[in-house]
Amino acid sequence: MKPFDIVIVGGGGAGLYAAMEAMKTNPSLNIAVLSKVYPNRSHTSAAQGGANAALANKAKDDTVEMHIFDTIKGSDYLADQDAVDILCSEAPKIIRELDNIGTPWSRLDDNTIAQRPFGGAGRPRCCYCADKTGHTILQTLYEQCLKKGVFFFNEYFSLSLSVNNSRMRGLLAMNMKTGKIEAFPAKTVIFATGGYAKMYWNRSSNAAGNTGDGQAIAYRAGIPLKDMEFVQFHPTGLRKSGLLVTEGARGEGGYLVNKDGERFMARYAPEKMELGPRDLVSRSIETEILQDRGFDSPAGKYIHLDLTHLGAELIKSRLPQIREMSMNFEGVDPIEEPIPVRPTAHYSMGGIDTDNYGRTVMDGVYAAGECACVSVHGANRLGGNSLLDILVFGRIAGHTAAEEAGKFEPGVISPEEIKAKDEELRSFMQSSGHYERYGALREELGQTLALNVGIYREASKISRGMDELSLLKERFKKIRVFDSSDIFNTNLMQVLELQNMLDLAETVAAGALAREESRGSHTRNDFPTRDDEKWHKHTIATLDNGTVKLGQKPVTMGRYELQERTY
Ligand code: FUM
Repeated sequence: MKPFDIVIVGGGGAGLYAAMEAMKTNPSLNIAVLSKVYPNRSHTSAAQGGANAALANKAKDDTVEMHIFDTIKGSDYLADQDAVDILCSEAPKIIRELDNIGTPWSRLDDNTIAQRPFGGAGRPRCCYCADKTGHTILQTLYEQCLKKGVFFFNEYFSLSLSVNNSRMRGLLAMNMKTGKIEAFPAKTVIFATGGYAKMYWNRSSNAAGNTGDGQAIAYRAGIPLKDMEFVQFHPTGLRKSGLLVTEGARGEGGYLVNKDGERFMARYAPEKMELGPRDLVSRSIETEILQDRGFDSPAGKYIHLDLTHLGAELIKSRLPQIREMSMNFEGVDPIEEPIPVRPTAHYSMGGIDTDNYGRTVMDGVYAAGECACVSVHGANRLGGNSLLDILVFGRIAGHTAAEEAGKFEPGVISPEEIKAKDEELRSFMQSSGHYERYGALREELGQTLALNVGIYREASKISRGMDELSLLKERFKKIRVFDSSDIFNTNLMQVLELQNMLDLAETVAAGALAREESRGSHTRNDFPTRDDEKWHKHTIATLDNGTVKLGQKPVTMGRYELQERTY
């Protein structure tokens, strides 16, 4: 195959924005997007609530500076302040740019882009398309990429970077339709594969494919990961499935209620109530459940999200998907009854360590969106800053790669390397004697993480989790793929995804054990306070002789000093 100037791994919002921007920067470039699903089925389509931007349409006194401060405070002061400046300053421009290319934003009566309140934000600044914001953005970007001539390789499972003498030469991927390994020689590669929260299995709002493939590929190639221990639990996942019930439901006025009929957030965030930041609201729900003020059911403990007072018209016009999902997955119509919810693993604050231009430590390799850690979210992301992140930093990474591609020689990937990769995958089908199955290992991984490295953490539990992870990795060596066909071998792909999750889970648990403090989404019962002296630092995880090695990196400060965080 002819070398590409840019290969983008992942067809969600970050990948598509990167492709669109790279084409705009230099229309003569040869750009490929590889995606293991059709791009308009990427997980971005599950983002319901919206994207923050200080447009000041709803609250006339909103400013970019307030957005910056809310984001830094929300991050529990772990975000890099120069990166947050970029995120929030670019936000109004990028929302308007999406408007210009056809994103159907909901509107206020004066026809400006509508904005709703979101957690941890001082003003209502979340721009939305009903409760299907990610879906509409994704369609808009996909259309633009097709128009501009981006090459799409859909249903390609990315496997590894080809690296020779520290020089990246391209990517190896499996064509899922044929089972063949194909080489994508490239001058540059951008990872935009989304997050890794599906490792929590059914305690997750994530799509089945959010298995951290990009982070795992980068990690194995020697690229450091940052702040992996910070996994965000969204307060309101549906009780049975963990599927997302948007924060927009609380932004529109929904209440959280325990079994005694109390709006319990008054105890934890008397000012912000249900619109406290996610880490705080999730901890509050978990505490209500642990202290027996939740409801019980065979499908687990939960609390109520009550929208009944909002009325049928508002629910149908602004939260139509939430109504549909509640009816389909819980048998509850939110116009008539409260929705049973519990916290669900939702977002990976950690990811591939990049600078503010999307560059990693390896020349020619970039990352953007949830798979990257710039870091704009620090220890806790604010709702509505994720779509914003994929747009702003997807665009930046696309621009940087387009500008820098000319610096690198086109890569060449040898037939021997392709053959070796093919043999590696076939070995999963040839294991004999005692064997392990994918389903059992995947479920045990989810359980051990939810139990030991969940919302509330402590050394003894995390250590138990790490021991269990080591055993799972040992058992993985005996895993057998039962499907021997080449065509859409989903069993093989699941096994490869599990391998990625196992490697990343180790970095999450190791980071969680090392970080002896509570900050943002990382709450240690045995170290209940924030320790700025020792831990106001990013965690860096690298692969060293098959196991995780931890280091640290300073946090970039700016105008905002460390402060106590109250809501
Ligand atoms: O609650 C939500 O709609 C999720 C938004 C987000 O994660 O930013």
